[in-house]
Amino acid sequence: KVPRVGERQDMHVTDITTTPSRVSINKPTDRNKTNGSDPPLQIHDSTDKKSFQFQPKCNITVKDSLSAISRAKTELCKQEIADVSCLSLEGKLFPKDIQNYCPFKGNHTSGFYYGCFGDKTEQRDLSHHKEFPDTNSPKNCIKYCTSGGYLYAGLQYMKECWCGDRFGSHGKVDTSLCNNQCPGDPSKPCGGYQANSIYTTGLGAKIKNPVELLGPITQTTQVKIVFVLTLNGRAVRQVRRLLKAIYHRDHFYYIHVDSRQQYLYDELLPLESMLPNVRLTRNRFATIWGGASLLQAHLAFIKELLEMTDWTWDYYINLSESDYPIKNLETLVNFLTRYNGKVFMKSHGRDTPKFLKKQGLDQIFHECDNHLWRLGPRELPNGLRFDGGSDWVGLHRKFCEYVITSDPLLDGLKEFYKYTLLPAESFFHTVLQNSIFCDKWMDNNLHVTNWIRKKGCKCQNKHIVDWCGCSPNDFKSTDLQRLMVFEQRPRFFARKFEPAVNQDIINSLDLYLFKDRPQDMKSYTKYWQNEFHFKDKTSNKTDTLLSFYGSFQRKSLESQKLSSCHLKPVRTLESNAYFVEDHYNGALVLYEAQHEQSGKIVTLESHFTKRRHYIVSDPQGPAGRLLSLEIGTEYDLKENIFRNFGQLIGPYSDLTLEHSWSSGSDFTVSVAWIDPTDVVAASYDIEIPGTNHIGSLKPDLKVPLRPGVWKVKLMHKWEVVAETSFLVVPLTTFQHRPVKFQQVLSFHNGPGSLYIDKDFKDFDTVLQVNRTVQLQKDADSNGRKTGDQLDQWVDNLTKAFWEYQNICISGESSIGCLELDICEKTLWSSRSEDPKSELHGIDSKSGRLR
Ligand code: UDX
Repeated sequence: KVPRVGERQDMHVTDITTTPSRVSINKPTDRNKTNGSDPPLQIHDSTDKKSFQFQPKCNITVKDSLSAISRAKTELCKQEIADVSCLSLEGKLFPKDIQNYCPFKGNHTSGFYYGCFGDKTEQRDLSHHKEFPDTNSPKNCIKYCTSGGYLYAGLQYMKECWCGDRFGSHGKVDTSLCNNQCPGDPSKPCGGYQANSIYTTGLGAKIKNPVELLGPITQTTQVKIVFVLTLNGRAVRQVRRLLKAIYHRDHFYYIHVDSRQQYLYDELLPLESMLPNVRLTRNRFATIWGGASLLQAHLAFIKELLEMTDWTWDYYINLSESDYPIKNLETLVNFLTRYNGKVFMKSHGRDTPKFLKKQGLDQIFHECDNHLWRLGPRELPNGLRFDGGSDWVGLHRKFCEYVITSDPLLDGLKEFYKYTLLPAESFFHTVLQNSIFCDKWMDNNLHVTNWIRKKGCKCQNKHIVDWCGCSPNDFKSTDLQRLMVFEQRPRFFARKFEPAVNQDIINSLDLYLFKDRPQDMKSYTKYWQNEFHFKDKTSNKTDTLLSFYGSFQRKSLESQKLSSCHLKPVRTLESNAYFVEDHYNGALVLYEAQHEQSGKIVTLESHFTKRRHYIVSDPQGPAGRLLSLEIGTEYDLKENIFRNFGQLIGPYSDLTLEHSWSSGSDFTVSVAWIDPTDVVAASYDIEIPGTNHIGSLKPDLKVPLRPGVWKVKLMHKWEVVAETSFLVVPLTTFQHRPVKFQQVLSFHNGPGSLYIDKDFKDFDTVLQVNRTVQLQKDADSNGRKTGDQLDQWVDNLTKAFWEYQNICISGESSIGCLELDICEKTLWSSRSEDPKSELHGIDSKSGRLR
């Protein structure tokens, strides 16, 4: 029997659309691994270690806090965590009681009644309320029901405004309680109740009649929107396309780019001088997933936007790089004009206690070192109705003006949400519910979100937050019908869309939204996504990429077409992942080369595609079910793709194996990882279920991996049934400069011990590996190579995995020997036209972007 090593990480992929839930984790991930594939650099610690040593100010005993302190990298972050934990122990982190200003709630007269009002208790006679222990204590009541939406402790009875289909069924109706206006829907009658018989749909009843809501409006002045784009990643072409889809000269476009994404920022900055109503904020945050910084960022944006007196917006609508409109701008503007004054926010629903738990609102979090640390449980402040849901919102200017001011409610909540996971999914909701704006709520976030819980809730963000969060999935071509269902409903955007995953659905939406757009453009089904730019300073995989790209350049310049011209590569400018009809179609490398005789420099672009190879040796057996076997890095558990599209792997890469199977009978297979010297680095057992299945496995090998060709072999009952190989490229550069002898010695000779703490020699026979002296000698000699010798070794390796396709020249060339296609006119080139993502100024007639 093959021994099991490590953790099994395979999983089912099933399509079920349900509302997601977030589940906490107890075992935070190992942060010592680098996410990139370059050798680790010295960890940057902003504090001077000699003069600063972390000192807890109290005796910290909370398990989660201690764990966070032990895992934090910098002394400063450890200190912050300790300080937050101590303040929390002293009860000083945020106020215990927070004032509620919603005029429709909490009016009370004499006496006391403690009860929990909400779905679970509705229709009960609250005077003999028994299900909550010790209901005579206001504290307990808060604990059980603050949550509950409609709980108010210490009130003899409460009054609440309500409207909707249950109107009049219970309680004593008192229309004066809601100023005779139904808060969720002004077209409905409204009422109120007194709480000895409670039955309510609460504030913000759902919009019931969408067709009517989308209808024509009578107001003459239309609202103006500021679209707040919070951007991350490198999908600059998609961002331009999004801007084009939502742009009109009458509205405003405020862009925040994560402070760690310099490429995206640099590419978008020129928009400011081209378009008067576009602005990139200089106040940039490292807005990590789920982090407290995203709320800080929104509060800063609101402040900055209100100070820009020439931007006279009425609505603040946030969007990300993966949002796209599903209705045209005019329909949205009409809708908001009709409901001008309302605040649009989607609530989680009715089971607030469940929401609070799953969202981790009862836990303290602190953000530092670009990580959100969980520090232990906390009590929620008293006196509030907590709410939350989606952080995609439509905030009215008046509400924004209020939010950035100061009063006990705002100050208390701002303190509370500083230490909160996904704060933007709950801060605005809770402010709204407890402020004088509480009757302005519309339970609608203007969005359709593609939640597929089984795919999106795989703890894929646990290296960033100490929690298992969920993310929506990307829409694909087959989702068009599902999206069209929303045609008659007040939803204006959908998420998520990613052209690197599926551009076809975005094309379909464009066709539907902008019937006048030319659809015959040659780049229509093509997509380019930048992977490297010479100005990138922060990437932690540059050296791995440059080692590949250098080899591609040498290979191109030695090709038949060019060899007589004597060019040598000078520097890599850019690279793009190239997609055709939603399939990855290789890497495009743009670089400068110098003509040896004349010294002239030309800019060239080369196209390389990946060779795929895996062999099934026993198609009759269970391995006949195998559909693919791939090794790569940056595996996205949610979309089942490698974000490192070309699977460019270096000695410091964190590997993942993806294996996919058609249906059949279940069985167990062993996976062995074999290094270039035929050392069996690791072996794992994985159970393959009988269903169609995509699984992934992280082997957790010690780095550096020995460069060269690695093999992965699948064994069933001690027989090799399938195998594949992958390349770990030797590094030709370190921090962008050619590697030195001392560096290759440490990068290119393996981890210096076993890859995992177990010797797998016993497997040699069954795996047919033959660890010869010669192999080891070759590896040792390769491991000492630098300069030209190193380049040759790399070139020998890359040719088995990458295939040269084509080359073009960008701009004019005055070198006679070069007769190449001009990139600007070559369809595959990243320099060729891409009208769907190009912006050519404002059309004076329509006010839209050309
Ligand atoms: C889900 C929810 O839909 C979203 O409302 C919530 O904010 C996060 O979880 P998800 O797909 O997981 O969304 O997150 P994603 O869209 O990747 O990121 C949310 C926002 O944060 C985007 O605007 C994104 O640009 C930004 N972000 C994310 C950064 O600025 N930097 C990062 O490192 C990650």
